[in-house]
Amino acid sequence: MTNVYVYVSDSALSSDISNELSANYSVETVQSLSDIDKASEALRQSILIFSFEYLRDVVSCCPVGKAGGPALLCIQEVSDSLDERLDDYDSSVASIFKPFSINQLIGQVENLFEVNQAKGQVESLESQLIQSEKMAALGQLAAGVAHEINNPVGFVSSNLNTGQRYLGKLTDALESLKDACEAEVTGAALLLHATWQAEHQVPEIIEALQDLGEENSDGMNRIRDIVKDLKEYAHAGSNKFERVSIEQLLKSAVNLLKNEIKYKADVEFEFGDVGPIDCISSQLSQVFVNLIVNACHAIEDFGKITVGTEDLGETISISIADTGSGMSEEVQRKVFEPFFTTKPIGKGTGIGLAITHSILERHHGQIRLQSTLGEGTCFTITLPKEQEDTDEDED
Ligand SMILES: Nc1ncnc2c1ncn2[C@@H]1O[C@H](COP(=O)(O)OP(=O)(O)OP(=O)(O)O)[C@@H](O)[C@H]1O
Ligand SMILES: [Mg+2]
Repeated sequence: MTNVYVYVSDSALSSDISNELSANYSVETVQSLSDIDKASEALRQSILIFSFEYLRDVVSCCPVGKAGGPALLCIQEVSDSLDERLDDYDSSVASIFKPFSINQLIGQVENLFEVNQAKGQVESLESQLIQSEKMAALGQLAAGVAHEINNPVGFVSSNLNTGQRYLGKLTDALESLKDACEAEVTGAALLLHATWQAEHQVPEIIEALQDLGEENSDGMNRIRDIVKDLKEYAHAGSNKFERVSIEQLLKSAVNLLKNEIKYKADVEFEFGDVGPIDCISSQLSQVFVNLIVNACHAIEDFGKITVGTEDLGETISISIADTGSGMSEEVQRKVFEPFFTTKPIGKGTGIGLAITHSILERHHGQIRLQSTLGEGTCFTITLPKEQEDTDEDED
């Protein structure tokens, strides 16, 4: 609901205005400018009504500029100098001249309310557009990088495997040399072999090579996973839309992660009995897994993860809430950017939510988040029940 702050010198007029507007707006009579200051968080969505004599003070304490301040409605005695003083004020401004009727005033408030709403919509469309252009550009980049990395990863992996095999053969050959020395009756060969092994640290070298080999394989697997994620992000998979029960998918995702979850949280389902919807189930499963793993990571000791669904008519909503660490506003702004992570190397790549975003875009859905530092986070997804083009099959 839009807040209306009334800041008018004549207290009888101020309470008349408040009474008339209170049916449709949340109205507060402001006694001093510090009250407005305190409310400045909420001001973007507000309308301020004030008498002309307070103009300078009010305008100077309101947030002005690109972020948009509140809409101002000025009650004037005379018609001069309003424009001049509001030159810097980049928000909706209206004035009304005394004497006026309360109906006139309500009309003005309604106009400002609509202007405010339209401005909000334009701003949010603008930011969505920027976000999706950015995502598309990053998608192309990611696809290119994934493609380029894929080939060297392929031959390095295969060479590593061959190297491991050769190392095995070499170890066998050395063992057989040792056996041959042992079989020699005088024992001189055995002594020579033992001295040679100790001098050249042969067993240590072999053990170190085996360890290196294992580490290399781990590293290659990680690179392969990242490349796979990048391709997934760029193409968002390749399967067909089918009618699938979302609640079933959510349960399977939780099941899949049973081991990860059990030390971290109790899971509670709050299902609203939503029926099947058109979706690419493997991709949505990935979305749910990403969100649940993130929730687990955010919980320090032990907490709760609540998985809910709701039928909203044409669409459904799915929410995954945790009682984890929450996120600062800065982190919240960046979470959907590829490679943004606050996790240590090896624990997070920062691609999970970027993939999630691109999959949901392909499903014509949306994702929002609500998070409070120290309290937890809730991701809410909305998805249409039906997709227009369910034959899509890329790749
Ligand atoms: N439920 C959550 N609670 C708190 N922070 C979160 C939550 N989900 C995501 N984040 C923050 O958003 C960042 C990005 O998340 P994202 O899933 O994209 O990457 P990641 O988990 O770091 O790595 P990846 O998913 O690629 O393994 C995380 O590093 C974390 O800081
Ligand atoms: Mg993640």
